[in-house]
Amino acid sequence: MDLKHIRELEERHYAHTFKRLPLAVERGQGMYLYDYAGKKYLDMFAGIAVDSLGHAHPKVVEAISKQAGLLMHTSNWLYTLPQLELAELLSEITGLDRSFITNDGTEAVEAAFKLARKTTGRKEVISMEGAFHGRTMGSLSLTSGEKYRKPFEPLVPETKSVPYNNIDELKKAISSKTAAVIVEPIQGEAGVIIPDADYLKQVRELTEEKSVLLILDEVQTGFGRTGEMFAYQHSKILPDILCLAKGMGSGFPIGVIVYSGGDFSPGEHGGTFVGNPLACAVSKTVIETIRKDGLVENSKRMGDYLLKKLLASGAKARGRGLMIGVDEANGEETVLELIGKGVLTIYSKNTVRILPPLIIERKHADEFLTAFGSLKKQDG
Ligand SMILES: Cc1ncc(COP(=O)(O)O)c(C=O)c1O
Repeated sequence: MDLKHIRELEERHYAHTFKRLPLAVERGQGMYLYDYAGKKYLDMFAGIAVDSLGHAHPKVVEAISKQAGLLMHTSNWLYTLPQLELAELLSEITGLDRSFITNDGTEAVEAAFKLARKTTGRKEVISMEGAFHGRTMGSLSLTSGEKYRKPFEPLVPETKSVPYNNIDELKKAISSKTAAVIVEPIQGEAGVIIPDADYLKQVRELTEEKSVLLILDEVQTGFGRTGEMFAYQHSKILPDILCLAKGMGSGFPIGVIVYSGGDFSPGEHGGTFVGNPLACAVSKTVIETIRKDGLVENSKRMGDYLLKKLLASGAKARGRGLMIGVDEANGEETVLELIGKGVLTIYSKNTVRILPPLIIERKHADEFLTAFGSLKKQDG
C-alpha cells in the first residue's frame, strides 16, 4: 500500500478537512507506529495527546474485547453499570460530584456551555484569546482564530474573548450577564502556552467573588498529561465544571463533563451514543491503569527529563509533564525532518509539540533527543 494510492483515495472520496503529514500508518505497538512497509516510528505526539497508554496496550485490548462480547450499546433508555462505575471513579479522582459522558472533547464543551447557561440563568460565556475548545458551533464560538471561525459566522451570541493570562482584562469583562468563564490551564493548540503560576488561582478567586462559573477545559491537559492527574491540581483549585476527553480513552473516543452544583433536568441534554458501555468500560480500565502503573508520576519524571535535556541543548523549550513545546524557525519543516529520522511530532505554527504516550521510558526519550539533536547539528 503506497502513500500515493492512499492520497488519491483521499483526494477522490474524503472531505478536504485535514492537512496531513506525509505518512500512512498501519499499526501501532507501545511507543511505536508502523507504516505499510513495516518501517517503525517513535510516536511522540500520541494522536494529539490521546494514546495515553500507547498503542495496542494489552489492558485496553482486553477491556474492549471483553465489553464488546457483553454489550456495546443500548442507549440511555436503560441503565448500564460501566457508565455509572466510570462516573463514580471520575468523582473520586476529581473531587466533583457528577458526570455527563460524551463522545469527544467538543461535545464536552457543548455540554458545559449548556449547563452554565441553564444553571445560572445567564447567557454570556467568556473565553480566552488563543483558546481552542472544539469545532461544533457552541465550542467554536469559544475558540479563537479567524481560520476556524470566519466561514461559519454568525456564531453563538453572547460569547466574547479576553487576553489569556491577564486577570485585569478578565475582571473588566465580567458583568451581570456572565454565566461562565472557560479556560485551558495550559493552551495546547495555541502552542503550549503556560500562564503565570498564580493565574488559575486568581481566575478561580475572581469567578467565585463574582458568582460566575469556572469551566476548566482539560480535554488536552487531563489524565496525567502535565504531571498531575489534572492540571488544576498544580494550582490547588477546583473548577465548577471540568471538560475532559482525549487521554481518558487512550484512543477510544470518549469525553465527559464532571461538575458540582446545578444540574440538567431529564430531556434537557442527551445523545444516542453518550456514555455507552464499551467506551465507559475502556475508559475505566485506562484510568485504573494510569493510576496503578504510576503513569502520572512517570509523566512528571520523563517530562522533567525531556525538558531539562532540551533546554541544556539550547532549544527554546517550555512544558509541564509530557506537554512540551519547542519554538523552531519553521515548525512544519522540523516535524517533516523528524519524520525522516523516524520520530513523530506535530506543530502549531512554529512550535513543535511533544506529547508522547504516558508510558514513555528513558530509552524512548533518549531516542527522541538524539533525533532532535541531530537536526540541530545540521542546522548549525
Ligand atoms: C483544550 C481542547 N478542548 C477541546 C478540544 C476538542 O476536542 P475534540 O477534538 O475531541 O472535539 C480540543 C482538541 O484539540 C482541545 O485541545
